[in-house]
Amino acid sequence: MEVSIRRPAGKEELEACGRIMSSQEPWLTLRRGYDHALALLKNPEREVYVAAVDGAVAGFIILAMGGALKGYIQTIAVSPDWQGRGIGSRLMAFAGERIFSESPNAFICVSDFNPDARRLYERLGYKLVGELKDYVVKGHSELLLRKSIGPLEGFKP
Ligand SMILES: CC(C)(COP(=O)(O)OP(=O)(O)OC[C@H]1O[C@@H](n2cnc3c(N)ncnc32)[C@H](O)[C@@H]1OP(=O)(O)O)[C@@H](O)C(=O)NCCC(=O)NCCS
Repeated sequence: MEVSIRRPAGKEELEACGRIMSSQEPWLTLRRGYDHALALLKNPEREVYVAAVDGAVAGFIILAMGGALKGYIQTIAVSPDWQGRGIGSRLMAFAGERIFSESPNAFICVSDFNPDARRLYERLGYKLVGELKDYVVKGHSELLLRKSIGPLEGFKP
């Protein structure tokens, strides 16, 4: 399986990402639909990278490299057809390299009803910071996780 991680090639690939995100959990429960996904994917203040298998989009990641939570992994999603085959781990490794080249902290949120994704992040070294209650929808929390390679003081990009 040939996986490459690169910038999206154009509108069709961004739309494919929007479908991958909006058609599955956790975004169904969070009531984040296709239009929301596309707005995120087109936000010029975000960096989007796709994982392509034999040239076709199988997953993607959205990073926020500015703002208050610099190094925030805003979204990661892999198409259900490709889940459990290492693509998410590849995207997370890529995100880590990108973020740690500029900042010593990487952040990600995971919904409290998504223990499978949380297990992946904890295996990769992300640790619980805190619980954001009723953050996206009432009745569910987002759990903020962080992976750090050291304090801000002394960090050299
Ligand atoms: C979470 C996700 C990005 C991981 O990508 P992946 O390519 O499936 O992951 P990998 O094959 O690299 O690693 C496997 C691990 O991913 C997690 N995982 C697998 N399928 C998953 C799914 N449907 N939902 C959530 N996590 C899943 C598990 O921790 C699994 O490890 P395990 O062996 O302990 O079960 C992907 O499964 C996905 O898009 N899930 C649905 C959307 C989602 O939950 N996104 C994260 C929002 S914070």
